[in-house]
Amino acid sequence: MTPETIAQALSIAVDLFEAGIHDRAEALLRRVLAADASNTLALYALGRLLRDLGRAEEALEPLNLCRALLPGSVPVALACVGALAELGRFAEAVGLLDTSGPASTGEALMSLLAQAGDQANQAGRDRDAIGFYRRLAGLSPDSAAVWGTLGAVLLRAGDWLEAEAALRRAADLDPSDEGHTRRLADALKFQGRLEEVRELYRRHWVPRRASAWWPADGVTGDGPPAARASITKLVHDIEQLTYLDSLGYLPAGAAAILPALRDLAAELIRSGRRPGEVFTLTPEQLAPVQSLYNRMVHLADPVLDGSPVLNPDLDWSRIGQDFRDSGPGYAVIDGLLSPQALDGLTRYCQESTFLFDLEHPGGYLGAYLQEGFDHDILFAMARGIQAALPDIVGPHALRQVWAFKYDQRLSGIPPHADDAAVNVNLWIAPDDACPDPDAGGLLVYPAKVPGDWGFDDYNSINPRFDAFIRDHGGTPHRIGHRRNRALLFSSDAVHATESVDFRPGYLNRRINITMLFGYR
Ligand SMILES: [Fe+2]
Repeated sequence: MTPETIAQALSIAVDLFEAGIHDRAEALLRRVLAADASNTLALYALGRLLRDLGRAEEALEPLNLCRALLPGSVPVALACVGALAELGRFAEAVGLLDTSGPASTGEALMSLLAQAGDQANQAGRDRDAIGFYRRLAGLSPDSAAVWGTLGAVLLRAGDWLEAEAALRRAADLDPSDEGHTRRLADALKFQGRLEEVRELYRRHWVPRRASAWWPADGVTGDGPPAARASITKLVHDIEQLTYLDSLGYLPAGAAAILPALRDLAAELIRSGRRPGEVFTLTPEQLAPVQSLYNRMVHLADPVLDGSPVLNPDLDWSRIGQDFRDSGPGYAVIDGLLSPQALDGLTRYCQESTFLFDLEHPGGYLGAYLQEGFDHDILFAMARGIQAALPDIVGPHALRQVWAFKYDQRLSGIPPHADDAAVNVNLWIAPDDACPDPDAGGLLVYPAKVPGDWGFDDYNSINPRFDAFIRDHGGTPHRIGHRRNRALLFSSDAVHATESVDFRPGYLNRRINITMLFGYR
């Protein structure tokens, strides 16, 4: 082929390509390259043709040759980057773009960085993902989503300080996204900054759960009406509000709504609802009670006046030894709290209307750190245990705190393990609330769930877990309910709540406070 015929062949190839006659265009370009292997126009055209045909892998060969011959060409570099991206090789594409001078700015780079970051993130390559997202955040500093994603990976990688900075930026840019706040709170938990965690969570739940009587008289929140309900919840709330009224703590306006709440519960019981069944109230059912129902009406704030939170007479070396000597890792701590802290925490749980979680099937309600269960006594208790057991609890951050409050009768919570390193479980109902002193507590099985099991494998009833307990569960240790008795146990240890059969009366309801420290 002479230079003239090559030029003609290229022109015809382009026409064929544009006319959609791809096979003849490809054949012609390959003939040109057979005659002139370094014809950059033919190499580039063949690369583009193959990419258009979805053959990116093959396109890379002529495109890379072309790039070697024309190292400064932006279109050729971008064509190579495009082929790499089409092949899902985003990190290489970013690398190439970086070395391509003027091509390495703008939208193309941002899109590639996002894709390279996502790819590394999904593959669990945290360091790579962080590198890509960091650069992306630098190029799009006003994107809450980018800062949020960077923060989430930093959190997973254990870089609390940079995670905190990224997530704070995300939360500032998009305060309505609760996910950013939740992860920012996690970054603070790992640093033990629990008071700041409380303030962060309050930004979201206070407007949602505020009532005409809390946080201040006449100030209502903007949360939607709480329409989910159960007989368990309504009966509890009626008992609690009646109790608050007897103490003189129920505001008159709230007390005026109490009869409507009683009528609603009576109507639902008559309609045949089962106690633990969770359902949605109709607007007509909700209307008379919605200013009060499942909102914060009263939040107790017990003051300790300098008293210690933990019982100063506890023998922590014995407790640590018990934990280490037991098979699955557990220890019973009788008398965990000082009398003042126990009294304060009991009043806090009995009086505060923060049992917002009613979604558990069966008969118990929950209050959580992220929705109001956040008193200083709890923080001091967690810090005290961490300091007292520096090897067992000390290395692990407090990640979650909740209170569960039970119906008088309940069939218990079946065997499971928890997603943490260590659990602390404290009971605060009176000793004589549970007539059988050996009952009403926890069963700890001498078995730990395998380390490679996921949450759904060990936190739900399923055939594999059933078989595991049958084969390895052995005879569980039975720890009866006592006021101020705590059970410290490895979260991997299979455990179950015994069936509950407590005496009647609001103050006799079983309450357990659970703290989860660290990761499995
Ligand atoms: Fe548990």
